[in-house]
Amino acid sequence: SITVDPAARGAAIDDTMYGVFFEDINRAADGGLYAELVQNRSFEYSTADNGSYTPLTSWTVEGAGQVVNDAGRLNERNRNYLSLGAGSSVTNAGYNTGIRVEQGKRYDFSVWARADSGTTLTVALKDAAGALATARQVAVEGGWAKYRATFTATRTSNRGRLAVAATDAAALDMVSLFPRDTYRNQQNGLRKDLAEKIAALHPGFVRFPGGCLVNTGSMEDYSAASGWQRKRSYQWKDTVGPVEERATNANFWGYNQSYGLGYYEYFRFSEDIGAMPLPVVPALVTGCGQNRAVDDEALLKRHIQDTLDLIEFANGPATSKWGKVRAEMGHPRPFRLTHLEVGNEENLPEEFFDRFKQFRAAIEARYPDITVVSNSGPDDAGTTFDTAWKLNREANVEMVDEHYYNSPNWFLQNNDRYDSYDRSGPKVFLGEYASQGNAWKNGLSEAAFMTGLERNADVVKLASYAPLLANEDYVQWRPDLVWFNNRASWNSANYEVQKLFMNNVGDRVVPSKATTTPDVSGPIAGAVGLSTWATSAAYDDVKVTAADGATLLSDDFSGDASKWTHTGAGSWSVQDGQYVQTDAAAENTMVQAGDPSWHDYDLHVQATKKSGK
Ligand code: AHR
Repeated sequence: SITVDPAARGAAIDDTMYGVFFEDINRAADGGLYAELVQNRSFEYSTADNGSYTPLTSWTVEGAGQVVNDAGRLNERNRNYLSLGAGSSVTNAGYNTGIRVEQGKRYDFSVWARADSGTTLTVALKDAAGALATARQVAVEGGWAKYRATFTATRTSNRGRLAVAATDAAALDMVSLFPRDTYRNQQNGLRKDLAEKIAALHPGFVRFPGGCLVNTGSMEDYSAASGWQRKRSYQWKDTVGPVEERATNANFWGYNQSYGLGYYEYFRFSEDIGAMPLPVVPALVTGCGQNRAVDDEALLKRHIQDTLDLIEFANGPATSKWGKVRAEMGHPRPFRLTHLEVGNEENLPEEFFDRFKQFRAAIEARYPDITVVSNSGPDDAGTTFDTAWKLNREANVEMVDEHYYNSPNWFLQNNDRYDSYDRSGPKVFLGEYASQGNAWKNGLSEAAFMTGLERNADVVKLASYAPLLANEDYVQWRPDLVWFNNRASWNSANYEVQKLFMNNVGDRVVPSKATTTPDVSGPIAGAVGLSTWATSAAYDDVKVTAADGATLLSDDFSGDASKWTHTGAGSWSVQDGQYVQTDAAAENTMVQAGDPSWHDYDLHVQATKKSGK
């Protein structure tokens, strides 16, 4: 039983308490939230990004065509281009199974092209079964210029290809295809289903762009002086301005990132979903296993200046140098940046602090209203973490970012973690946490833990699950909050927990007492359910086994299927010893009651996806 004293006043809970953390990991940006459908659009993929890459990754050339890096390039920061011979063509395979197009929807093609003697490009959308839209012809004449065409898909396909054929020799770069239907119909926009899933959380803040990709790699810029370095840390100036002038980079997670989704787009998205933007900049100490402090005064000064410029980009008037860049990109009004994080999970606390204090001093001198967030390194429950916290306290840091990924049991056992945190010390930003798994029990353990965060809302000011997105065919890290491929996206149980908390942020904690701690280690499952969504599918041989291997439920559908209850708008029937979904129009769930003593169990099921999602 729970006793609540409505008159007692606990901690106030900020509206911004629960947010999201977006990092370009698991192809969360290119091939994910960034709606661009062409992979490697600027021919910049390199073996330096990933040993299996070449500048023609995801492209197939028929006839004569090669990637060139010479003085004829589009611009200094977009160094490669494709030189296509007369009568030749090039085809892009997109991400996952290909380019997804939907019948009746519009798609915007664009390309930067140069053809000194003139050429005609034929641009086609097709799959193995033929055309997916009426092909377009684009006449190209003279030096580099941008050309456009629009398609309306005549069929739906998950395996589309974009082909560009040239009658005469041409140079091509930034070959691009966007759905017209992006989130809020924005240009250079975001994939609608993913953006809507994030928006539906109603997050209080968006922490971006990482994570390990912020403070790993070289701290040099992209220039002739640095040898056009790949594997650079995430530097915001690389990511703004016209997309064709944004240098691509090797992503820490083993692929190439285009920066098409860059700082402007992060700020715009945060504003669109009513969330506080919370960028993270590198502190010149590398983390995530690289553990190196960069000793270069001039470089440190440059990064500190870049951070001041970032604040001007976000908040400065349209007449200021960086405010003007923002205004020219389409947003004259400021983005209202209030918090900024310096560094991410540095393992060298002393070296980090030396640099952090210099960043903070410069920011406070110029922008005293900005909260400069520090971090505690990874929570190794030991020396690094303790030293970092000691330094944070001594330096009177306003807010400290903590990260941890642990078992569900750890989250259940540590509900009281913040009960004993020093109320006069720095506030906590729990920037990354997750229990290890996407199962229901993981969501439950996180929900239990979040009640402890909320109870301590006077100390824990911000919290975000991590990571946010994962493309199922390019996974570096699991679990993740939302999963997707080129045609669908689906939420984890953990997402539902986050949504529940974010959509119901209270104003104030009402202190309560439970007479006993609920025993969540006992039975938690009493049924098995299998759901499909808009898919034609069949199931066979469903088996649930206990952790010790004992069979709890087994059904090969050779006999009576009446013990299964069907819910959802579609219809099912048993055919040839399989449970078959015969209506792929809607969500379908089949449920069979189990035994209330089920606890840890494994589900095995033979399933066939016949078509759809
Ligand atoms: O969220 C995945 C990674 O975990 C982040 O990049 C890093 O900060 C942490 O180690």
